[in-house]
Amino acid sequence: MQKSDFSQTFHYNVYLNDSFLNKDDQSLLLKARETALGAYAPYSGFMVGACARMSNNSVVIGSNQENASYPIGICAERVLLAAVSSIAPNESIVVMAISYYSKEVDSSFPVAPCGMCRQALVEFENRFEKPIRLLLSGSSGEVYELNSASVLLPFSFNAKNLGK
Ligand code: THU
Repeated sequence: MQKSDFSQTFHYNVYLNDSFLNKDDQSLLLKARETALGAYAPYSGFMVGACARMSNNSVVIGSNQENASYPIGICAERVLLAAVSSIAPNESIVVMAISYYSKEVDSSFPVAPCGMCRQALVEFENRFEKPIRLLLSGSSGEVYELNSASVLLPFSFNAKNLGK
């Protein structure tokens, strides 16, 4: 069989800081930063906050929740998704801002969701057939804007693989 070469790329926008965002996005990111400060992360000291605007314009937050039994900890993004799916099971997410604060590492660089959260975000996108726009940032500095969470997880495993 003939060999074929494929490649995949994705576009994202980089803003120098939050002041270049529109007002709605800026307030969402500020809320994510504020939410990070309330995270329960005594073991890693890495405090993550996520804030989503829903299709009905409501705003939902999540922060990471750690545990002395480390694997039990849950990332901010999945805390948020579980909250959204419980509070407003019929609403899709339009945009999610994610930020973090740490005393131990430089917090001025954007954070991207971990692999498990990427999978959870893609499930949510597929469920509502709507992309989730992402705003990724640290406690200050650049903001990355991605049009969809799925670009972070090419070749994702999904319901179609299960015939659903
Ligand atoms: N964490 C998140 O909450 N979201 C991410 O996207 C990356 C990692 C949390 C998990 C753990 O509580 C801490 O950050 C350090 O990994």
